[in-house]
Amino acid sequence: MRVKQKTIVVTGAASGIGRELSLALLKKGARVAALDINEEGLQETLSLSNDNGENMSLHTINITDKDAVSALPEKIIEKHGSIDGLINNAGIIQPFVKVNDLEYDSIKKVIDINFWGVIYLTKGILPYLYKRSEAHIVNVSSMGGFLPVPGQTLYGASKAAVKLLTEGLYSELRDTNIRVTIVFPGAIATNISSNSGLVDKEAEKQQTEESSFKALPAPKAAEIIIKAIEKNKFRVCVGKDARTMDLLYRLFPKYATNMIAKKMATLLG
Ligand SMILES: NC(=O)c1ccc[n+]([C@@H]2O[C@H](COP(=O)([O-])OP(=O)(O)OC[C@H]3O[C@@H](n4cnc5c(N)ncnc54)[C@H](O)[C@@H]3O)[C@@H](O)[C@H]2O)c1
Repeated sequence: MRVKQKTIVVTGAASGIGRELSLALLKKGARVAALDINEEGLQETLSLSNDNGENMSLHTINITDKDAVSALPEKIIEKHGSIDGLINNAGIIQPFVKVNDLEYDSIKKVIDINFWGVIYLTKGILPYLYKRSEAHIVNVSSMGGFLPVPGQTLYGASKAAVKLLTEGLYSELRDTNIRVTIVFPGAIATNISSNSGLVDKEAEKQQTEESSFKALPAPKAAEIIIKAIEKNKFRVCVGKDARTMDLLYRLFPKYATNMIAKKMATLLG
């Protein structure tokens, strides 16, 4: 689906990939309904939109609030006239510990946001997408959604659930006007650790600067995801790390699993 003059709902639009998706969509002539729990961050996204801001509406919302999500589509229609696309991008990571040490509150939070949030948005917006001549749903999973990363096991499980949900939607919607894309980003340079409450912003900045590994910039990730919408891709791996591990895991799942486990061992203890 071409994004020009379409209305696209983007979750997690106050930061990182979601912010860059919103700005790039606006530049391409789309209208954006920008959702996030972080009101200040949404305002910042708007302030970065330059002349395109009138095509963006801001919606401060917790995507785990089913009633608030259900009430949202009519508000978006009121502003933009229709909804043509949904990008389920909002997400958090879990505290970096093994399952045995992970508190139930953290488990619930990561599954509520990463999985239930996607379900609420999908079920809330799907009826409106059926009404359009063409429409598109994009769900952002993770490299950790197909490959186990010790210390992020529940995060990975939530993203694996998003993967299967998305592939199921693809199958169910094949003969309709609605296309579906699953996205597996590798490491992307964002503030996800501090936004997930694991470290403060300064510590995250310092870690990024000191790391020898250069994560893909978020604007590049956004560009790849929008291209995937416009080319109606079934699945897309974002970044060389995700592409390489996708291939390796499919060919040699046990080898790939052990390789990542060894890499993480020093960090996890
Ligand atoms: N950064 C990476 O390396 C990476 C890798 C793989 C996958 N991803 C996925 O990409 C997506 C975007 O992540 P990012 O790196 O841009 O992170 P980010 O922290 O920069 O952005 C995520 C946004 O989601 C919002 N959010 C969190 N909980 C919410 C809630 N309950 N309701 C509404 N909004 C909420 C946050 O406020 C934040 O603005 C996530 O789903 C993440 O899991 C990221």
